Amino acid sequence: MNEGNWHKVATRAEIMEEEPIRVVVGDTPIALYEVEGELYATHDVCTHAEASLSEGIQEGDTIECPMHSGCFNIRTGEAVGPPVTEDIKTYQVRLEGDDVLVRVD
Ligand code: FES
Repeated sequence: MNEGNWHKVATRAEIMEEEPIRVVVGDTPIALYEVEGELYATHDVCTHAEASLSEGIQEGDTIECPMHSGCFNIRTGEAVGPPVTEDIKTYQVRLEGDDVLVRVD
């Protein structure tokens, strides 16, 4: 594993169930989520248009896009609800103490 690809993006307390947040690593906007106590990360920009998924509605492990209500599985990035057809990229997340790190290659 290349340690250089892990970026501290938040503290654990900033991420709460059903309240995703947006962070940026370099030029990459990322949405961070908590699902059943675990942390997940996806690209923040919907694959359908330019909407920010972190402003969408999270229900369990599904995020609903705020623009046209397309849905993705937060754990896998799979497009699960129209009009989205293209999956969203996911990123590895880990905790280091209270710090949240995301792997962006
Ligand atoms: S921009 Fe996300 S569903 Fe259209």
